[in-house]
Amino acid sequence: MSTNRTFTMIKPDAVKNGHIGAILEKITAAGFKIVAMKYTQLSLRDAQEFYGVHRERPFFGELVEFMTSGTIVAAILEKENAVEDFRALIGATNPADAAEGTIRKMFANSIGENAVHGSDSDENAAIEGSFHFSGREIY
Ligand code: CMP
Repeated sequence: MSTNRTFTMIKPDAVKNGHIGAILEKITAAGFKIVAMKYTQLSLRDAQEFYGVHRERPFFGELVEFMTSGTIVAAILEKENAVEDFRALIGATNPADAAEGTIRKMFANSIGENAVHGSDSDENAAIEGSFHFSGREIY
């Protein structure tokens, strides 16, 4: 059953390029309620754990290096059908394949530096949300 929640990060590229406000505006305009949010930076250990599922992939080192390279915004979002609707809002992993009007089409530069993360399942949304937030930080 859907939990109606997903987890997102505005990644270091989008933060450095000054897109936090515009991305949050797109997210709230699409009907998502922000139930938790923080400005933070992943340590090496954080990134290796968060992306553990990709450990054997050839891009793992690059991914960890990029995700620890600067500050991020982490958030839990609530909306009916949140996981699927948020993935539609952000667009394909590779911005070159992302549909017009999607967040990655508008703000991302490459498959590695793709502006935002969105959970791929309800189960991962719960795991990823708890990775960043304690119960008392979720409203
Ligand atoms: P995301 O889906 O947020 O989490 C896993 C990330 O791995 C993904 O975004 C991409 O940024 C990154 N990724 C996936 N494929 C590649 C690739 N071929 N080269 C570099 N990074 C990748």
